[in-house]
Amino acid sequence: MNDIDRACAAFRTLLTEQQARVAGMTAERVDYTKKATVTIGLVDGDGIGPIIMEQAVRVLEALLADEIARGSIALRRIRGLTIENRLACDQAVPDDVLDEILTCDVLLKGESANVKLRRALDLYANVRPVTIPEQGIDWTFFRENTEGEYALGSRGVELPGMAVDFKVTTDPGTRRIARAAFDYARRNGKTRVTVVTKANILKKTDGKFTALCHEVAADYPEITVDDYYIDIMAANLVNERVRGQFQVLLLPNLYGDIITDEAAQLQGGVGTAGSANIGDRYAMFEAIHGSAPRMIERGMGDYANPQSILRAEVMLLRHIGCAAAAGRLEAAL
Ligand code: IPM
Ligand code: MG
Repeated sequence: MNDIDRACAAFRTLLTEQQARVAGMTAERVDYTKKATVTIGLVDGDGIGPIIMEQAVRVLEALLADEIARGSIALRRIRGLTIENRLACDQAVPDDVLDEILTCDVLLKGESANVKLRRALDLYANVRPVTIPEQGIDWTFFRENTEGEYALGSRGVELPGMAVDFKVTTDPGTRRIARAAFDYARRNGKTRVTVVTKANILKKTDGKFTALCHEVAADYPEITVDDYYIDIMAANLVNERVRGQFQVLLLPNLYGDIITDEAAQLQGGVGTAGSANIGDRYAMFEAIHGSAPRMIERGMGDYANPQSILRAEVMLLRHIGCAAAAGRLEAAL
């Protein structure tokens, strides 16, 4: 087989796998309020993960003391998602760790293996709020979390003199993130959802994303929908005259990744922003940032700001119906 034939064979495998994925995407949402016990898995992760997690657990135990005593909420510490263990097992998430994770309902995670866990638990909605009240900024980003460049990121092909990566956008994958964004807007009295892509260049994938978001928007006539390209949106977020008008932003995976760091920086830095990864069965809450290996190398781990994971904890508490506890933590922050 020559190089081109090998690449084509690899591409055929990818297409076949993605077709099966599309067929398997069915939505059945778990209602946590109907469960006798909601189990929160606490996963330390790598780098600064265990440092910020220690504070997050302290706060959670204090806020949920009654529920924990009553048995309606259980906390489960899950160790072993460390770089050392992952290397030893040669797995992004070692099998025994994943098995433990699957016994939980929701996870609070320090830092590690984001992409693998989002995929394994099918956490398709990455929800990232950024608020700067004194500047009139109240944004909620809905980043698609299972598709785009990330789905096939490690599956590109290399030929002599060139390399090719793939991006995939599916109908059900787009519809479910769009629905999550519009449902959120409706529940929270938001009046505008802004779709952000680069559909002028990525005509097939981003073109589909935009078209399907508009299709879903038709079920929400009270909400205005508009589109921007990602480049001008990056500019708009630092344009003080217009940025306060954006409310809910709906984006494919990679653009969502990039622009939420920009937004978090405006709020005070990536150490101040929480992130929710929501699926129909599981949900995982984490800081918006990575494991900060450079901080650890320089011996500065104790300076890691736990605010990001505490903001994620607010979202976790709301997600499992503990609105009062969430409100207390939010007010304290
Ligand atoms: C994030 C992070 C991750 C991502 C990295 C750590 C893989 O940047 O959660 O935004 O790219 O999604
Ligand atoms: Mg990121």
